[in-house]
Amino acid sequence: MKKAVTLFLIAFTLLFVSCQKVEVIKEVQIIPRPQHIQMGKQLLNIDKSFAITFESKILKQEASYFSELLNKTVDLNLQSKLADNFNGKAISLQLTSKDGVPDENYTLSISQMGIVITSNSPKGVFYGLQSLFQIVLANIDKNGKIEIPTLEIIDSPRFAYRGMHLDVGRHLFPPAFIKKYIDLLAFYKLNTFHWHLTEDQGWRIEIKKYPKLTEVGAWRKETLIGHGGKKPFEFDGKTYGGFYTQDEIRDIVNYAAERHISIIPEIEMPGHSLAALASYPELGCTGGPYEVATRWGVFQDIYCTKDETFEFLEDVLLEVMDLFPSKYIHIGGDEAPKARWKECAICQATIKREGLKNEHELQSYFIQRIEKFLNSHGRQIIGWDEILEGGFAPNATVMSWRGTEGGIDAAKQNHDAIMSPGSYCYFDHYQNKAKTEPLAIGGFLPLDKVYSYEPVPEALSPEEAEHILGAQANVWTEYMETTDYVEYMILPRMAALAEVNWTEADKKDWELFKKKVQGHYLLYKKLGYNYCDHSY
Ligand code: ACM
Ligand code: ZN
Repeated sequence: MKKAVTLFLIAFTLLFVSCQKVEVIKEVQIIPRPQHIQMGKQLLNIDKSFAITFESKILKQEASYFSELLNKTVDLNLQSKLADNFNGKAISLQLTSKDGVPDENYTLSISQMGIVITSNSPKGVFYGLQSLFQIVLANIDKNGKIEIPTLEIIDSPRFAYRGMHLDVGRHLFPPAFIKKYIDLLAFYKLNTFHWHLTEDQGWRIEIKKYPKLTEVGAWRKETLIGHGGKKPFEFDGKTYGGFYTQDEIRDIVNYAAERHISIIPEIEMPGHSLAALASYPELGCTGGPYEVATRWGVFQDIYCTKDETFEFLEDVLLEVMDLFPSKYIHIGGDEAPKARWKECAICQATIKREGLKNEHELQSYFIQRIEKFLNSHGRQIIGWDEILEGGFAPNATVMSWRGTEGGIDAAKQNHDAIMSPGSYCYFDHYQNKAKTEPLAIGGFLPLDKVYSYEPVPEALSPEEAEHILGAQANVWTEYMETTDYVEYMILPRMAALAEVNWTEADKKDWELFKKKVQGHYLLYKKLGYNYCDHSY
């Protein structure tokens, strides 16, 4: 009888343990959720006997990237080598040439024989590796043993543009952090980093032809304390500033390219340009003097529409294009008050000469003139949705931020749009209503709201909807002084944005996502990122 009870207990324990395994294996915690996952029933142990092999030299970079990543993050040192005469267990990277299959698609197969990742391009293989990386990170025990479930994944992104922005004008962060930020984009299969490089409060990019931009424009004499709700304003009395050298920028652009991330630089015009005007006052309507801004908001002084301004901006953009190989250059265009133009003889003369109706059309003239210049150098412009006012630049893509109207208007006029509405995509807003949250600009954007975002507005026909390239979250840093705080504000909301952009709407599942996010908190810890653990 005793024996029977013992046997029963053993059987029960085995059943319980195996059920737990089944529970673990139900679906791997990949964010963004892949389009198709078929879970297997077995486990694969990855150890140092594995190699990362590539069948084509084109994938050498992907293999060495992954080798370094595993080494750095889970202390597993795997050789990367040509597949030719390797017979051992492998993470095998294979290039395919399947007709009509887009570059970002990939397959990932994990069996007890080993791991195979295929795609038509290195980019797709890279995404397969990111999925594998998340599986590895989530399945490593405290002794470093890695045991991952067998499975088959066939995956592809919903949107072609999957972006994150970072404002380094208000506060700036060291190159090492920009790389850490880019790593996170890669982790979540985002492919565009919108680098907001110039602001009223600081010019952050070295321009060889105009040294004063960084000698003068990169520095503000002090910074507003708090929201500035009370007058007189209170300032900290401390000089703040800095900039990225061209060498640092080249290094970061290469780093991003190795992770299949395109960096779109933003050079703001005609507004948000006080730092440039402080450096070269002759570019303003009044001639100055101007001061690099020490508080936040929108300022009246903007670039004058005189020829010198366009010569300056074109020279700046030539250096920018030399640094950034991106298809797009972002030219800002938002929040440009027209008061100075109304009073300026030169701007009024431009209106007359060009046969324009008013200052809104003058803004449109400004943007179109810059667009023509950039187009002539093979680049396309992106502008904030204000560029729709006063007439649309012929080839411009709109970034819709004051809601979705800008994106809808653009798509209806046959222009591309990137959706970044404040109510779903502004990661400078609070993620929790608790009084204990660190100071933010305002607003309220919890995780589930980001997750619920549908980038294609209902007002669009299927043809018009083709113009919606994807969504982007913006990270304005007025109130984010430290890298820790930036991480806190983007994690885990960036995970939700990733799924909005990647996963087909009918495959999104908030309940499942919520569980996966809990798992990702542990991954953030392992990777050394700060995060908010109460954003929903
Ligand atoms: C913006 O938030 N001013 C684009
Ligand atoms: Zn003027």
